[in-house]
Amino acid sequence: MRVAVLQGGRSGEHEISLRSAKSVSAALAANGHEVVPYVISLEGRWSPAPLLPEPGANPGIDVVFPVLHGTFGEDGTVQGLLELADLPYVGPGVMASALAMDKELLKRVCAERGLPVTEYVTQYRGALDPYAIEAVFAYPVFVKPANLGSSVGISKAHDHAELVAALEFAARYDWKILIERTIVGRELECAVLGNYESARASTPCEILPSREFYDYEDKYLLDAAKTELPANLDPLTTAEIQRLAVEAYLACNCEGMSRVDFLMEASTGRLYLNEINTIPGFTSISMYPKMWEYSGVPLNALVEELIQLALARHERKKATQFTR
Ligand SMILES: Nc1ncnc2c1ncn2[C@@H]1O[C@H](COP(=O)(O)OP(=O)(O)O)[C@@H](O)[C@H]1O
Ligand SMILES: [Mg+2]
Repeated sequence: MRVAVLQGGRSGEHEISLRSAKSVSAALAANGHEVVPYVISLEGRWSPAPLLPEPGANPGIDVVFPVLHGTFGEDGTVQGLLELADLPYVGPGVMASALAMDKELLKRVCAERGLPVTEYVTQYRGALDPYAIEAVFAYPVFVKPANLGSSVGISKAHDHAELVAALEFAARYDWKILIERTIVGRELECAVLGNYESARASTPCEILPSREFYDYEDKYLLDAAKTELPANLDPLTTAEIQRLAVEAYLACNCEGMSRVDFLMEASTGRLYLNEINTIPGFTSISMYPKMWEYSGVPLNALVEELIQLALARHERKKATQFTR
């Protein structure tokens, strides 16, 4: 098959995407597919010329693998283009991608299903009010832009002055800001794979940040954060993480793949859903492919299954009538 691999993108995770795409492309080629790379610059320019939004207008492309992280790639925008073009593509669709990208809406949808999410309040640029936050949460609190990734714009505020600075900092990156109670404990991740009828969870892993929290430096620059695979958990907790991961995935109508991230409070043992990444990293050190490899699905088989899931979902759509 000819697989278009979209990479780069107008996002703070541009470089990571290029690294992820390298791994994905090598695995696709090893499986005998022809890889057609599409590199999107930091300014949003495509090379070669962009895929076109009309059905049938992209001859020779059988399926698209968007390996784009963050804004304008993981957030439903590119998925919208691919829907218009009537091309099969890997990963969640428009709505699930956009939903998972918005940390507030994700929590609302999961909470509606009774899934445990970190407690938060929402504020908006131009109406930031640290006193209203202090009335709800004790310090420290986490302050995040609603719609970013890779820890960009995120701070942990320990007092009033830090909170004021953290709100302003986050407001540079989004109009909507989330302020969360800090969960003191462990960070756990679980990989989910499959379409609606076939979603299943991998063995979870643990992230051990080298800093006060898993910030951008720790994720990509310092190379000092540790991971533990499998996470050292009792079988009941492992099963509970897997159950919650699949439930959250289905609650958001994710299909194809996603990595579901949790925080586990040390004092209570409670699990909290933190976020869902619909196009998780695929670099040589990324946990999504590593969790599947540990769970018996090596990278080559993983990308093959993702392609098959994309084709199956596209096929399913053919049974839907869009006009009278
Ligand atoms: N409520 C919280 N309590 C404790 N730590 C948190 C909380 N929210 C975020 N963190 C820390 O900040 C990191 C980044 O936050 P996250 O919500 O995962 O954003 P991103 O989308 O940028 O990965 C997490 O990996 C974790 O280390
Ligand atoms: Mg995260």
